[in-house]
Amino acid sequence: MYLSYTVLNPIIIAILIITMPQGVSCQKSCTGNAGLMKSIQYQLKLVEANDGKCDCAHRSLEKVGFFVSSSGALENVGTGAIVIYDSVTTNLGGGYDKSTGVFSAPVEGLYYFTWTVLAQEDKSFYTQLNLNNTVVAKNHAGANGISTHMSSSQSAVIQIQKNDGVSIRVHSGGKYMYGDKWSTFSGFKI
Ligand SMILES: *[C@@H]1O[C@H](CO)[C@@H](O)[C@H](O)[C@H]1NC(C)=O
Repeated sequence: MYLSYTVLNPIIIAILIITMPQGVSCQKSCTGNAGLMKSIQYQLKLVEANDGKCDCAHRSLEKVGFFVSSSGALENVGTGAIVIYDSVTTNLGGGYDKSTGVFSAPVEGLYYFTWTVLAQEDKSFYTQLNLNNTVVAKNHAGANGISTHMSSSQSAVIQIQKNDGVSIRVHSGGKYMYGDKWSTFSGFKI
């Protein structure tokens, strides 16, 4: 179809009128985007700058936690002996050694420890939490003279140095402690 210039002219003007305000608003939003771009670029620079300083190996080591239990019952364990929890569920940081029963802190820090002992009826299994050779807390699981088992828990929050050893030891009367997830020991860096 042939359209004359006189027909097209008003159409072109109409298009210009319609598109002009859009051009103005585009300019405005472009100015806004420029500000946003500057902000994003600045934040990217911050992320890049911090990324270079991030010691990932150190970071993963900061997460320390263990949860262990005794698979079987422990009977007639002598006073002072370390309670060895042979079943390891969690051991982030690798601090707990199931051959010795000792948790050696892989990094210094503030730690939370808790342990539960289920003693058999008419028997006792008193324990203590040790930091190296120092007694930190005691746990009185005693069912002497009663006809049901007795469960007892204790916890401690202590600041410890790298390589300090934390263990559960028999305080006295290590007659019978149930295993099978009834008696557990756990700790983590806060
Ligand atoms: C605990 O023992 C470890 C290993 O022998 C030692 O490095 C650390 O200094 C001791 N800590 C305390 C508080 O006695």
